[in-house]
Amino acid sequence: MDSFDATAISAPELAARIDPSSLRNRSGGPLYLGIADELRRLIENGEVTAQTRLPAERALSISLDVSRVTVASAYRHLREGGWISAQRGSGTYVSPTSSLPSWGTLGGDRETADLGFVNASPSASPLLADAYSVAAEKITGRFASGGYAPSGLLELRESVAAYYRGRGIPTTADNILVTSGATDAIHAVLATFTEPGARVLIEHPTYPVVVELVHTFGGRCIPVPIDPEKPEEFVASADRAARQSAPTLAYFMPDFSNPSGARLPLQTRRQLSATMHRHAILTIVDEVAADLSMDDSPDIEPFGAATPDIATVTIGSISKTVWGGMRVGWVRAEAGLLARVTATYARRQLSASIFDQLAAVELMGKYDEVRRVRADTSRVARDHTVALMRDRLPDWQFRVPEGGLALWCSLPDGIRSSALVAEAHSHGLLLAPGLRFGTGYAFDDHQRIPFTRSLPDITSAIEILARLSSAGMPTPVVGSSTPAAVV
Ligand SMILES: Cc1ncc(COP(=O)(O)O)c(C=O)c1O
Repeated sequence: MDSFDATAISAPELAARIDPSSLRNRSGGPLYLGIADELRRLIENGEVTAQTRLPAERALSISLDVSRVTVASAYRHLREGGWISAQRGSGTYVSPTSSLPSWGTLGGDRETADLGFVNASPSASPLLADAYSVAAEKITGRFASGGYAPSGLLELRESVAAYYRGRGIPTTADNILVTSGATDAIHAVLATFTEPGARVLIEHPTYPVVVELVHTFGGRCIPVPIDPEKPEEFVASADRAARQSAPTLAYFMPDFSNPSGARLPLQTRRQLSATMHRHAILTIVDEVAADLSMDDSPDIEPFGAATPDIATVTIGSISKTVWGGMRVGWVRAEAGLLARVTATYARRQLSASIFDQLAAVELMGKYDEVRRVRADTSRVARDHTVALMRDRLPDWQFRVPEGGLALWCSLPDGIRSSALVAEAHSHGLLLAPGLRFGTGYAFDDHQRIPFTRSLPDITSAIEILARLSSAGMPTPVVGSSTPAAVV
């Protein structure tokens, strides 16, 4: 301790404090996480004090004899956790004690800081920067072309096809259309298959964009309740809804549904897929969260794998495993169905970004690592959120999801999400009201809490909610911009 400069620590000094045996003896897991753990240990036990300036990435990488990217990833991981922060032009510092992750109370100015919890969108994977560097090298080779790839770059379609084959679904590049994120994929698929007046089965709660789009294309949503505790009951409910409403389309999220977190077990998804096919319903499967498992729970056979290929159109994206700012998604479908979607998409969009696609090829080439890294960060954030919620909001009920990016909470009696969200907003905390995830006035008694922000931000958000929750909520005004709840 005494040997430290009060405001800075050199790379050799810091490297000497890092226990090399703990890095060597790690059972799996990327090296950068080992370095991040060691640095966190040093901060926690006070060997590196608050507001100490840390060495530059390159200097530390030389002292530790690792790549600069490894140190950059370790720093990034610590930044995401709130342990350190980068100050533009002046380096990286250990966070002040007041902002270190803790169970302590909220500091005054944090209360008014804008805390965006509307979206469940994580910060960029530490693997992204490298992928962009490779893309920057490769892209010059494309400059002689016109720059459009209407179905997507062949290399990317091939890597996405290989990803599906790896999951047990025979797929070639001809089954893949690359889009600008899953949002464009959902839009193109719904635009292609939603006839005016069509009924579309949706699980309830569901991803809000879909409800809006179905309406835009003149369709009608038929909500089918899903209980993440009893996902197997969903098949009978969907079958009943199919018999009663004669839908032609269904939109489901079988893995870590947003927002409920529900995951359909193997037999359930097989039965559901077969049931939809029997009713001649085309199922749109949104797998944007499919690779967000946190607890090493084994992958489950993809929805539709055991049903004829024409029964299912699947949507994927790397927005959640990698970064939402990288606009790469896709549609996987039987070639005839895909041709129709491709024709629709071509009327709206000439091509997804070539640069992002080149980076995506890199990332798909190490997708297991991409997934593992995301799982590691999400697990820490989820566990932090769960522990804090249980401590500070013990009346809020939720199931701990084994994947995904949010908790779906049932609110205690007397608290309405619409009122809570309005009140939280005035304290600088932005949340999505429960009503957004349903049709009509459903889910005003639910609140989605994403665990995609830094741990200090999560702590601050929950502290605000705990105060509001204990203060009692005003009744929302009927007809106000936040709809009154009648559930
Ligand atoms: C279920 C679901 N589908 C699609 C999307 C959109 O993904 P993208 O960013 O790839 O457009 C999201 C983003 O939150 C999502 O949660």
